Amino acid sequence: MSYDLVIVANRLPVDRVALPDGSKGWRTSPGGLVTAIEPVMRANDGVWIGWPGGTDQDLEPFEHDGLQLAPMTMSAADIEGFYEGFSNGTLWPLYHDLVAKPEFHREWWDAYVAVNRRFAERAASLANEGATVWVHDYQLQLVPQMLRDLRPDLRIGFYLHIPFPPGELFQQLPWRRQILEGLLGADLVGFQMPGGAQNFVRLVRQRVGHKTHRDLVYLPDGRTVRARPFPISIDAAGFEEMARSEAVAERSAEIREALGNPRKIFLGIDRLDYTKGIFARLRAFSELIDDGHFDVEDAVFVQVAVPSREQVEQYRILRDEIDRLVGRINGDLGRIGRPAISYLHSSYPREEMAALYRAADVMVVTPYRDGMNLVAKEYVACRFNDDGALVLSEFAGAADELRQAWLVNPYDINGMKSALLEAYQADSKETTRRMKAMRRTVTQHDVAAWADSFMTELSDVETHGKAVRPA
Ligand code: G6P
Repeated sequence: MSYDLVIVANRLPVDRVALPDGSKGWRTSPGGLVTAIEPVMRANDGVWIGWPGGTDQDLEPFEHDGLQLAPMTMSAADIEGFYEGFSNGTLWPLYHDLVAKPEFHREWWDAYVAVNRRFAERAASLANEGATVWVHDYQLQLVPQMLRDLRPDLRIGFYLHIPFPPGELFQQLPWRRQILEGLLGADLVGFQMPGGAQNFVRLVRQRVGHKTHRDLVYLPDGRTVRARPFPISIDAAGFEEMARSEAVAERSAEIREALGNPRKIFLGIDRLDYTKGIFARLRAFSELIDDGHFDVEDAVFVQVAVPSREQVEQYRILRDEIDRLVGRINGDLGRIGRPAISYLHSSYPREEMAALYRAADVMVVTPYRDGMNLVAKEYVACRFNDDGALVLSEFAGAADELRQAWLVNPYDINGMKSALLEAYQADSKETTRRMKAMRRTVTQHDVAAWADSFMTELSDVETHGKAVRPA
């Protein structure tokens, strides 16, 4: 089998789940990416290559919910060197402003190269003559050039979902040149923010020595590569529809009741990741109680921390630190049946998230660095009554669009305390004015518009490949 559109991402858009009869099956994961790409895949005879998680040996492509999926196998050694090691122990902290210290290990790099090569070979084997291949994210930055070497006939796009760092940080990477050259295999390289695209072009000029002009790189073989921002978004209409449903309304009332009907509910929802600023935000909230601005009867902070990358040392340390902090805050400030922080270390279906968004009066999103942050946009999409306050870090990509949020510097605890207090005290006229403006932004720039603009730009590139039809 071969396809006209090949999506290559580290993860498949499905999760392995246990079926009622005890056998194993698949469930489409709740991410926005699959919602956006699915229609384009259907319109273009597409396939999605990715890792299903774990060390399953099942390599045969299969169909799920009408999507063609091609699973990649990983051995325990691949997971350690490529996924936990180079992707999440080197690149992730380096690209997120050194919030944690990146480690540089030559064996991790070797694993990264080897796994990228396997993804490239799989894509080469599944792509029709002149097909379009769209490669995703930091785990697969070498795939574009590897693929071009194997299949010069293809039209190749790459999109980075996380920030692309400034030169001062990127240059620490012993394999900086190889990564830049890997990305230059694409015809179009997409970033979240204009700054990321500019960092990339500048580094290519300085480190690889290619000529550049604005967002274009001129390669010696006559090919050009375009680097442009495409800020990602969510399925806004889908979230709003879910939030409006009877089931979510009931669940949201139940949540409020279970929390003891406090005057205000603060909410944080994050993968348990050191980039997200969970620790500092909980401290800021607890100090507001301690300082006497409000009481545990007035306000509760619900923090959902979704388990993530649990084999990586820095993630384990973070979990312990947060466990300890929450225990101390609740021990010091809570009363019977009234914890200051209601802490949940678990992942939930989208409906439960929508119920939480509906229940929350103040949404708190305070990462130290974040490519976009879709949680901030999901909260806005769910607030169909134009109410609710968003406290948002300046260092999340979303802050560029959601200017009407209470913007904070997450390194400044006193500044965060002021913003949390203002959001807590804001009258409905103020929250409505701000929310209305943010809702316009999120509904107009949804994930379908994002996928469409990337695909349109990629189709315009002059290559040998044929263009992909919009869905
Ligand atoms: C971020 C990355 C994705 C990644 C996701 C979950 O959003 O940009 O590429 O898939 O985190 O992390 P995980 O390591 O579980 O895939």
